[in-house]
Amino acid sequence: MLLIHNTSFVYQLTPSAQRGSALGTLNPIPHGAVLLDGERIISVGAPAELLLQHPEANLLDAGGGAVLPGFVDPHTHLVWAGDRADEFEMRLQGKTYMEIMAAGGGIAATLKATRAASLEQLLEETRPRAQAAFRHGTTTLEAKTGYGLDLETECKQMEVLLRLDEEGPLQIIPTYMGAHAVPPEFNGDTAGYVRFLTSQALPELKSWWQGRAPERPLPFVDVFCEQGVFDLGQTREILTAARDLGFPLKLHADEFANLGGASLAVELGAVSADHLVKTSAEDIRRLGSSQTAAVSLPGTPFGLAQKEYTPARGIISAGGILALATDLNPGTSWNESMQFIQALACRYLKLTPAEALAAATINAAAALGLDDQIGSITPGKQADLLILRIPDYRMLSYRYGTNLVSTVIKKGVVYPVD
Ligand code: NIG
Ligand code: FE
Repeated sequence: MLLIHNTSFVYQLTPSAQRGSALGTLNPIPHGAVLLDGERIISVGAPAELLLQHPEANLLDAGGGAVLPGFVDPHTHLVWAGDRADEFEMRLQGKTYMEIMAAGGGIAATLKATRAASLEQLLEETRPRAQAAFRHGTTTLEAKTGYGLDLETECKQMEVLLRLDEEGPLQIIPTYMGAHAVPPEFNGDTAGYVRFLTSQALPELKSWWQGRAPERPLPFVDVFCEQGVFDLGQTREILTAARDLGFPLKLHADEFANLGGASLAVELGAVSADHLVKTSAEDIRRLGSSQTAAVSLPGTPFGLAQKEYTPARGIISAGGILALATDLNPGTSWNESMQFIQALACRYLKLTPAEALAAATINAAAALGLDDQIGSITPGKQADLLILRIPDYRMLSYRYGTNLVSTVIKKGVVYPVD
């Protein structure tokens, strides 16, 4: 047993997702303590009482820092090869992201590098990003394929994700994103590629998964529903086929144009709809009364130097489950830190630091359907916690560009951050 003590506050948050005006409920215990047993949280309360009940517990001194649930990053494209620094410069000179994509750059450029990389190379390039996310306090991270598009490379990306998850300590929740773009060998035949995805790729990916990781639930399936990529009808076809095969769903919606993706995500029972920049009032209303989490990725407009962000206050007023994620990827947002995302969310989404923290923990866990296991300091949940270098959680949003996490605890194991 391990007793974490000498804290400023233990911020428990809530056992399940926070909607509307409940967003930002931190349930702080001043100078609280947390008792862990192996991988689980046993109890939370006053240190003297917990010590009296379990005098045999080992002690972990939090040094007067704040204790919070580990951050959950519910949207990343963690696994890729190479970089796109050249495109960053092109964008600074005035080209748009979609123009670069239409001219054969963008996702297609990363696709080339990722196809060419061996499994070993891909592991070597991806591992430091997983480690950086963990050092910055992310204890669980969703990660998508989608830079291979042919089945061989998609499975190679999946293999990287499964191996990194097995290596730990970062827990990785995989997503198959064969519908990230139309690969060059289809010569712009989007309908043909959709047929390939629904009739071949999804069933084959499912058998591959059942051979490789039979003990794990099926990965999520995600689609880039966007003008010039997959339209609403094609997105519906792919997601319906995935759902019929038993895959849980996610969706990239309204990043650059409003195609109605968010409402489709709600209709099909997707666990989340993500990006949500150009989201309409009607889409917001539907998200608000659904179980589909609204995942905002403020690192993306920031990374693209765009002015428009998710209408987060509208989503909160409508009663939606607002969550935050990094979107970590080489094109629009190469950032591993959920701390920086909270700092952006306060400035551009107009969240309070408490709202941003809840959106980065319990609501982010809900965006993976894992809010019964992670995302809050609740007895019975997995022991994923952070100790901060500072006593005041608001510093997480107020300050930026520096790592305020001093210790990460994952499944009860303590990892000091140097
Ligand atoms: O979420 N929108 C699609 N996918 C990524 C960008 C991928 C890339 O540019 O490599 C995103 O922003
Ligand atoms: Fe994305």
